[in-house]
Amino acid sequence: MESHNAEGIKIVNLKEITDLNQFLDKVGRAVCNLYNSAGNLLIAKGKMVPQRLFNQKVFAVNYNQPEQDTGKTTEPVLEVSQGTGESQKKKPLLSDFINPKVKEDFQKAFSEITEIFKLETPPDKKVERAYGIIDSTINTDLRALNSCIFALRTRDTYTYNHSLSVYTIMIQSLKSFMEYQNEDRFWDTFKQQCVKVNFSPANLRKYSLAALLHDLGKTLIPPSILNKPGRLSEEEFGVMKKHPAAGLILLKKAGIEDREIFQIVGNHHPSYPSFSGEEQNPIITIATIIDIYDALRSRRVYKDPLDWDTTKRILKEEQGKQIWDPFIFSVLTEKVFEDLEKDRTDLLERTMKSA
Ligand SMILES: [Fe+2]
Ligand SMILES: [Fe+2]
Repeated sequence: MESHNAEGIKIVNLKEITDLNQFLDKVGRAVCNLYNSAGNLLIAKGKMVPQRLFNQKVFAVNYNQPEQDTGKTTEPVLEVSQGTGESQKKKPLLSDFINPKVKEDFQKAFSEITEIFKLETPPDKKVERAYGIIDSTINTDLRALNSCIFALRTRDTYTYNHSLSVYTIMIQSLKSFMEYQNEDRFWDTFKQQCVKVNFSPANLRKYSLAALLHDLGKTLIPPSILNKPGRLSEEEFGVMKKHPAAGLILLKKAGIEDREIFQIVGNHHPSYPSFSGEEQNPIITIATIIDIYDALRSRRVYKDPLDWDTTKRILKEEQGKQIWDPFIFSVLTEKVFEDLEKDRTDLLERTMKSA
């Protein structure tokens, strides 16, 4: 769309905003200039957006590249927002938005994963094998994955970091479970159920990928709900509960079609499953426990990170309620998380010494 504003200045690429929430920062200020359909400025970047604007058509210039420097751009979300009419039909897939800059961001994301992994894990063979998985991931799903990673990165810093964290812990966990392959309890948990888990390299990659993208649907949740400092209202929680289902929609749009990935992404919150028709896959339990562990140990706008002892106590209480598989629970809490915590303490001590 092209027009002239009241001053006669030519406005090019004026595009309608379908969800104004996505153009607000945490306190409700505009993250870019907002215009009416005639190209006249309604609200300048950085100004509070009044409620009345939600009832009218609002436009932005080049809204695929919002003029902000906070690292919280909104482009992948806008591509899939539910508009109406002709423009909706022509909306491209997420995977159509790959450009050199995105690619660069993707490569950077993966080098960050590598760095995180280096920090959290001693430089032994585990890390080497994990690199192999990461390499395979890059080679296999580059195009589809690019867009998903970019969506996470640009939409919400916490979700991005949390996703990387769940991803790296998933890799470590799968490797740890494999060390028990000769034990009955490994077979009882992973081979005797309706869904048999295959620990081939291709499957490890797939499960890790599902862990990385488990909260992809949060890129469609308004920041006002996602980052709300206080308790969510019932209505807000209702919106939040849609993120696993939204994740499935985004995965399909990005060209990722895999039943197990859908199971893990769709059902990582057992109390509100979004993918049905299949028996419980034990990998979902692993993803769920890692997800809770990382969330409890992370800082959010509304809470400080919990210490490891408190986290462990809460996980045990949850175990009582959820009846997670005892083998999965014990390997995660007594080995994987304990090792992580030890690495974290070592790292902190080393950092303090070198400061
Ligand atoms: Fe989630
Ligand atoms: Fe999560």
